[in-house]
Amino acid sequence: MCGIVGYIGKKPALPILVSSLRRLEYRGYDSFGFFVLNRDSHFLLKKVGKISEWEEKLLKVSCQGNLGISHTRWATTGEVNEQNAHPHFDCNKEIFLVHNGIVENHQQLREKLIGEGHKFSSETDTEVFCHLIEKYFQGNLEEAVREALKEIKGNYAIAVISRKDPNKIVLATFGAPLLVGLSDGEYFIASDPAAIISYTRQVISLDDNEIAVVTPQNHFILKEKPIEQIDWEIKEAQKEGFSHFMLKEIFESPAVIQEAIRGRMDIERGLAVLGGLDQAWERLEKIERLIITGCGTARYAGMVGEYMLEEYAKIPTEVEVASEFRYRKPLLDEKTALLAISQSGETADTLEAVREAKRKGTLTLGLVNRVGSSIARETDAGVYNRAGLEIGVAATKSFVSQLTILALLTVSLGRKKDMSLVIGKRILEELSKLPQLAKRVLEQADYIKELAQKYSEYKNFIYLGRKYNYPIALEGALKLKEIAWKVHAEGVCGGEIKHGPIALLDEDFPVVCIAPSDSVYEKMRNAIEEVKSRNGKILAVATENNEEIKKLVDDVIYIPKTLEMLTPILSVIPLHLFAAYLGLELGLDIDKPRNLAKSVTVE
Ligand code: AGP
Ligand code: GLU
Repeated sequence: MCGIVGYIGKKPALPILVSSLRRLEYRGYDSFGFFVLNRDSHFLLKKVGKISEWEEKLLKVSCQGNLGISHTRWATTGEVNEQNAHPHFDCNKEIFLVHNGIVENHQQLREKLIGEGHKFSSETDTEVFCHLIEKYFQGNLEEAVREALKEIKGNYAIAVISRKDPNKIVLATFGAPLLVGLSDGEYFIASDPAAIISYTRQVISLDDNEIAVVTPQNHFILKEKPIEQIDWEIKEAQKEGFSHFMLKEIFESPAVIQEAIRGRMDIERGLAVLGGLDQAWERLEKIERLIITGCGTARYAGMVGEYMLEEYAKIPTEVEVASEFRYRKPLLDEKTALLAISQSGETADTLEAVREAKRKGTLTLGLVNRVGSSIARETDAGVYNRAGLEIGVAATKSFVSQLTILALLTVSLGRKKDMSLVIGKRILEELSKLPQLAKRVLEQADYIKELAQKYSEYKNFIYLGRKYNYPIALEGALKLKEIAWKVHAEGVCGGEIKHGPIALLDEDFPVVCIAPSDSVYEKMRNAIEEVKSRNGKILAVATENNEEIKKLVDDVIYIPKTLEMLTPILSVIPLHLFAAYLGLELGLDIDKPRNLAKSVTVE
C-alpha cells in the first residue's frame, strides 16, 4: 500500500511532487515525506498526518532541485512516526528511497546488516533496502539496486536516488505497481496514473523484476515496452462541487450503470456482448464450475454474482475470500474458471489467487476497473467496469458497476446454456431501465441524510438481508464501519438472526433490514417481526408501494421495483449514502477513513 511519486526534469521538483502526491493520499495517509536533490544540497522532510495540512508551507519552500521522490505511507512495519515515514536513507545519508510493499525477511536482513556495522534510524522493513544498496554501491546506482534486490523476499515498488550517482532515479518492482509518465524532457513516476494525469497521459508500467533508470534525457527499462495512453479526464480526479469524493462517486451510480451496459446488450436477441471474453470463449464454454474471488466489497459483489449465475446461468459457482484461496489448497482444474473481481486490479490477495489458479492451469478472468492494472494484465481475459476513477477509499460506484456486469455475465453465459430468449431479453430490458431507477433512489438523498442524523446516536447496527440482498447487508455494514468507524456494524443473513445475533438486540441496537418485495419478502418480514418483538429499532429498505412495512418498522427508504436479481443494484445505493452521511454527522473524513487505504497491495 502507499503512494509513490517521483519527478526528474527541468522544473523545480517539489511543487510537482506535492500536487501529485496529494492525488495518491487515498492509498495511505498516515504520514508522508519528500526528498529533493539540489546540485550540492538536498531537501528532506518527513511528517505525520496528511499532506493537505502541509501543502501551503511546502509550496513556499525555496528548493530549486529538479529531481525528487515522495511517499504517502500506510504503515505495515513500524509505528506511525516521523522516523518511520519515507524516504529512508543509508548510514551516510547518500541513498534515499521510497517503498511500497513489505519486505518479509527484513528482520534477518536487519540483524545481518547491523552485524556488518550498519546503523538503522527507523523501525521499518523498508530501511533494509537502503543499507543493502549502500553495501553494494560501487559508483553505479542501478547495479547496486540489482545486487540488493537479490537478497529481498517480499513485494516492492521502489524509487531510489543517490547523491553519489546523481541525475537519475532508479526504479524496481515486484508485486506492486509503479509507472513512468513520459513528457518532453521530463519524467514522472507514480504508483497510479491518477497522480500525474495533469502532466502527461503517456505512461509505461513496470513489470515484476524490472529495473528502470530514468534520467532527464531518457529512460531505460530492461526490455522494450509499449507506451499506454491514459484516457481519463482530469475532472474525474476532482470533486466537481461535491464536498467529498465518496458522495460524488455515489451520485455517479446511474452513470456508471449506463457505462457498464453501453454497447454490451443486444436486447432483441437477448444477448450480452462482452468483447473482453472473446478470446476465452472456447475454454469458457467447457467449464463446469466457476470460482469468484475478491476482497471486501468486491467479494460481496461476487456473492451476488453467485446467486445470479446459479439461478439463471445454471453454472455451479463458489465465492472464495481471496486472502484464503491459495493457502487452503483449492482443487482446481481446466474445467474450472476463476473470476477475480477488483476495482483497483492491484489487490495483492486477489492477484495471488489469480496466480495460484494460473499455476494450476485454470482459466482466469478479471472484472476490473483500472485499465492496465496487474489483475487486468495477468488474467487470460476479462471485462472492464469503465466506472472511471474511484478516489474515495470506500468502494461505492465500483460495486454498483460490478453487480451490473455480473448480471450481463449471467446473460452472456446463460444464453450459451439453456437460458431462454425471453429470460435473456427480460434481464437486459430491466438492466436498461436501471440508470433511471438509480436516479430516483438518489433523489431521496436529503431524506437519507435526515435518517443518518437520527440514527447517529447509536453505537451498534445489524444489517439484515436474504438471498440477493444478503451480500448487500454485508456491504451496508462494511461501509458503515469503514466510514463511520465510531460505530460498529455487522451484516447478518435474515434467516440467521435467530441463531445467535438476536441476543444482542434491544432498543439501543438498530437493525437495517433490506426487504424488497421479492421471493423472500415473507421470510424477511418474519425476521423483522422477530426484531420488533425485542424492541429493536428498524430502518427498512423496501420496494415502492409496500405500505404494509411502514407499520412494522420505524423508518423506510423506498426503492423502485425491478427484477429480483437486480434489486441489490438499487438497494445498496441508499446504504452507501447512509454510511457517508452518518460518517459526516460524526465529523469524520469519509474519503479517508482511519487505518484504511484504497488499494491493498500488500498481503
Ligand atoms: C471497500 O469499501 C473496501 N475499502 C475494501 O473492502 C475493498 O473493496 C477491497 O480492498 C478490494 O479492493 P479492490 O476492489 O481494489 O480489489
Ligand atoms: N512496509 C513499508 C512501511 O511500513 C511500506 C508500506 C507501504 O507500502 O505503505 O513503511
